[in-house]
Amino acid sequence: MRFGHFDDDAREYVITTPRTPYPWINYLGTEDFFSLISHTAGGYCFFRDARFRRLIRFRYNNVPIDAGGRYFYIRDGEEVWTPSWMPVKAELDRFECRHGLGTTRITGERNGVVAEQLVLVPLGESAEVHRLTLANTGEVPKRLSVFSFVEFCLWNAWDDQTNFQRNLSTGQVEIEGGAIYHVTEYRERRNHFAVFGVNAPIAGFDTDRESFVGLYNGLHEPEVVLAGAALGSVASGWAPIGSHHLEVELGPGESRSFVFVLGYVENPIDAKWKAPGVVNKERARALLARFDSSARVDDAVAELRGYWEGLLGTYVLSSPDERLDRMVNTWNPYQCMVTFNMSRSASYFESGIGRGMGFRDSNQDLLGFVHLVPDRARQRILDIAATQFTDGSAYHQYQPLTKRGNHDVGSGFNDDPLWLIEGTAAYVKETGDTAILAEDVPFDNDPADTATLFEHLKRSFHFTLENLGPHGLPLIGRADWNDCLNLNCFSETSDEPYQTTANREGRTAESVFIAGLFVHAAPDFADLAELVGEMDEAAAARRHAQAMTDAVLEHAWDGEWFLRAYDFFGNKVGSRDCDEGKILIEPQGFCIMAGIGVDDGRAVKALDSVKAHLDTDFGIVLNQPAYSTYHVELGEISSYPPGYKENAGIFCHNNPWVMIAETVVGRGGRAFDYYRKIAPAYLEEISEIHRMEPYVYSQMIAGRDAARHGEAKNSWLTGTAAWNWVAIAHHMLGVRPELGGLRVAPCISSEIPGFTITRRCRGSVYRIRVDNACELGEPRLVVDGREIAGTLVPWAPPGTTVEIACRT
Ligand code: BGC
Repeated sequence: MRFGHFDDDAREYVITTPRTPYPWINYLGTEDFFSLISHTAGGYCFFRDARFRRLIRFRYNNVPIDAGGRYFYIRDGEEVWTPSWMPVKAELDRFECRHGLGTTRITGERNGVVAEQLVLVPLGESAEVHRLTLANTGEVPKRLSVFSFVEFCLWNAWDDQTNFQRNLSTGQVEIEGGAIYHVTEYRERRNHFAVFGVNAPIAGFDTDRESFVGLYNGLHEPEVVLAGAALGSVASGWAPIGSHHLEVELGPGESRSFVFVLGYVENPIDAKWKAPGVVNKERARALLARFDSSARVDDAVAELRGYWEGLLGTYVLSSPDERLDRMVNTWNPYQCMVTFNMSRSASYFESGIGRGMGFRDSNQDLLGFVHLVPDRARQRILDIAATQFTDGSAYHQYQPLTKRGNHDVGSGFNDDPLWLIEGTAAYVKETGDTAILAEDVPFDNDPADTATLFEHLKRSFHFTLENLGPHGLPLIGRADWNDCLNLNCFSETSDEPYQTTANREGRTAESVFIAGLFVHAAPDFADLAELVGEMDEAAAARRHAQAMTDAVLEHAWDGEWFLRAYDFFGNKVGSRDCDEGKILIEPQGFCIMAGIGVDDGRAVKALDSVKAHLDTDFGIVLNQPAYSTYHVELGEISSYPPGYKENAGIFCHNNPWVMIAETVVGRGGRAFDYYRKIAPAYLEEISEIHRMEPYVYSQMIAGRDAARHGEAKNSWLTGTAAWNWVAIAHHMLGVRPELGGLRVAPCISSEIPGFTITRRCRGSVYRIRVDNACELGEPRLVVDGREIAGTLVPWAPPGTTVEIACRT
């Protein structure tokens, strides 16, 4: 069942009922200020850091689920309704929410009044702009009372939700005309405040939640709205809110727009005060003035549109499959940009107060956005590398505001360092900017201890080599990509974390996944070594990769598929000898992506085993059989009920590894079948089962052992976005940058008989026309009218347009 449809020209998903199977959200903002907004106007916004600078309050895991946002109550006679349906939930004659690129437009219609709430974070602004347009579509004049509503968060979202003995006494506001200022803690250590203003005269205001809502009322029945008149309440402690009361008269056919701005304002420390005790509001006034008319909002929308069109023009597909086109042209890269901005911090599944930026996650996210914002990717790489230790290991996470490593989690996830090679290689391939390799980068953010970025990569590579186990395979440490495979943890106490509680010190538990990742990263590392003139290092790296390949083939081949690991006791994990968890997905994907077993048929065998044992109607599950009991020697993986998360859930992040592996063995059809099972645009028709947004990937879909097979969770912030991008754009459609040129080697289903791609890269435009189905990945290329040998199109001088014809 569908709950809306795609509008491809507008690049929007149009939700046509408020009763979606879950709140379907969008992200607004491009640089410093971000908003999460659901189709019913729920969510919150923050400046840079979702924990420390949160402007408005949102209640996670609340009843009802999506409570807290920016609401406009409309009082029409005795009736009260909200165009976003929530929170009043009065039935609407029409509802529509258009989630687009950095804009959300919610329209509600009731009893001859249409109310449209357009929301965006304009480029270069630290503010959420709402334009409320009210139209009288009926025959009689309307006299409406409109009440805006936001509830302020007392900045630090963690304190805000826990430290009540303090924060119920700290709230402060100021009011000046139509501008409501949230100035909690400004008088001492903060130099920032929030402003909520409107570009029209107001009939009244409220800033105290209890006065506005009523102590025993919910947001669906605020006393002030029910009574029809603002009280002019001034918050003092408790819960500050911002609410404007507007009286609006509309003749038949008439419409009016009001612009509300919810902004974050920072003053220089020495210019905090206008006069003793009077907040300097100059910047806030200037912000409100920039959006004092509807036309200015139109300009901001157009500017934002231009920004996104510019970014998304980097890779443009035209194929016979509209769902494929909308994934590749709009929604997959859009989600990649959101993961760039948010990492894993703030979503409807990530509270914004927990995790920092992951070392491994951020490097993988980069694979999905490096072509869109290469300059920002460059900085990201340098930031990540600065959290590495001198021995090549790395903090598992770092904090976005300070960019420092997170001590609570520490290091010890032994795959982490290798991802830095993957991320850096992707950047250099995209841009040709080899100068980045010579950048001076600190270890552990210590300016006194620095080395070139290439040296960091070298330490990453050697970290693996210096940490090999008894079979010559990499030691896993606390975990590898699969955070829940904790082979040194042995946790039997419920109150301790799985990953950071390592109860045994051992140098036995080995990861076949890291072995695959090492072999995959090695050629890139060797190429980069050659670029900086380290020829011996390059040659050695290639030898190490061969040795690791040999170790995998000798010790990690289980007969029909690759083993997953050796545990602390040297027992096999992911083997036919195991009772549960006989086969796991990760090494099948990564070893084959690295080329292991491709020549001798083992790769095909392993992939056929994936098909036979792990494939389901809704995607490929992580392992089979699921762990039915807790295995203390395996850790968190076996703690999940069968079918969820890392225990036999469909972990959408690693499905694309299998897709890519299928292209490596020349089976584009099968790769594309897997792709269609999890790509959200193809799941629109089963939204009642899938439940998450049909325009973005979720981290996980419940596997076949789960009662709710096919149901997704944790949409938006997942490495799934980047890896599916790589799978479809680079490997199935087959267009990817390499150091020496643009590789054009499609390997996709015969159901996609032909397509065109326009790819901007390194200052040139490559126009690629694929005429026949390329299921085997061995096409012939004609470049500017001349057939070339192989599939690598050499880089053209900047400013060139290169025409490429591709045939099988
Ligand atoms: C983490 C990843 C990890 C994955 C699999 C995600 O929640 O962000 O770093 O690779 O789970 O365990």
